[in-house]
Amino acid sequence: MRINDSKLLAAIGALGVEHKRGVSLSELTSLGIGGTSDVLLIRKHDTIPALIRLLKESATPHRFLGGGSNVLLPDGELPWLVLQLARQDPEVRFDGNNVYVDCAADLGRTVTLCAKHDLGGMEGLIGVPGSIGGALRMNAGAYGTQIGTFVREVKVYRAATSGIETLRGAEINFEYRHTSFAPDDIMLSVRLELPSKPYSEILQGIRICNEKRRASQPLNQKSAGCIFKNPPGGSAGRMIDELGLKGHHVGDARVSDRHANFFVNAGHASAADVLELIADVRRRVRERYGVELEEEVIVWR
Ligand code: EPU
Repeated sequence: MRINDSKLLAAIGALGVEHKRGVSLSELTSLGIGGTSDVLLIRKHDTIPALIRLLKESATPHRFLGGGSNVLLPDGELPWLVLQLARQDPEVRFDGNNVYVDCAADLGRTVTLCAKHDLGGMEGLIGVPGSIGGALRMNAGAYGTQIGTFVREVKVYRAATSGIETLRGAEINFEYRHTSFAPDDIMLSVRLELPSKPYSEILQGIRICNEKRRASQPLNQKSAGCIFKNPPGGSAGRMIDELGLKGHHVGDARVSDRHANFFVNAGHASAADVLELIADVRRRVRERYGVELEEEVIVWR
């Protein structure tokens, strides 16, 4: 989606929002897949209500992109303008056991920074790629840790009210890879409360999680992490593996040899290739196990 209306562009510029023309979105996603679109880079949270109002008034379809690590974007020219939050300086602020984090901050770097302040609890999340905002929206989790456990307050742009609100942690439902946020809410910043722990102890936990991850996941290949959610009581990876589908591919979209619930871009995979592979694997799992796998990755349709 391109913006060519000069009045709209001037109004966007007046808000201090940066307009980037014809961005190749494959460079913004960990799968390395995605067509092109104009991107609006938001520098100040409080300009969002006015920006969204402008886009609505001009009937400009738009979507918000976070860290790009758990998303499958379509090929070609996208039918939406893409919104992103610019990184803030500073991104993280400490006050005792409270940590105030901007949602554009990188999750892994935040975990490490907290460790340096002797604040732990999030060791399991160390290798999860993506932004704090994306982690909040999906309630990112690994090795028994979920980010939702530590959330005390979230500042969010709520699409329903077109305003910025601060929600208390207790008002938000954090479930397995799902939260009560609406799809068009935009996470802005969060207050986490983390338990005190000596740096050396946290570092030890981080090392163990890194090793486990390196041993079981294709970290040096382009992927969006697990493609499917685990069905209740089951394991999507184990089922796909048992079906002998490691290495199975559609074009360059390939079921990882290392972890069968990771689909990797082994070259120049398109979104269409990944979607065909998803449909094929889902059909085979349904036929063999009678289980309908649900996507874990967010697919822009
Ligand atoms: N397994 C296989 N073959 C495979 C992959 C896994 O037999 O190809 C077996 C394993 O041996 C194990 C079981 O399946 O017995 C579960 O595998 P694993 O421990 O790798 O965990 P997972 O359930 O596949 C989940 C999360 C990961 C997270 C890990 C570690 C989901 C969908 N996946 O994977 O999260 O990193 O646990 O906690 O919940 C993600 O969200 O993108 C993601 C990768």
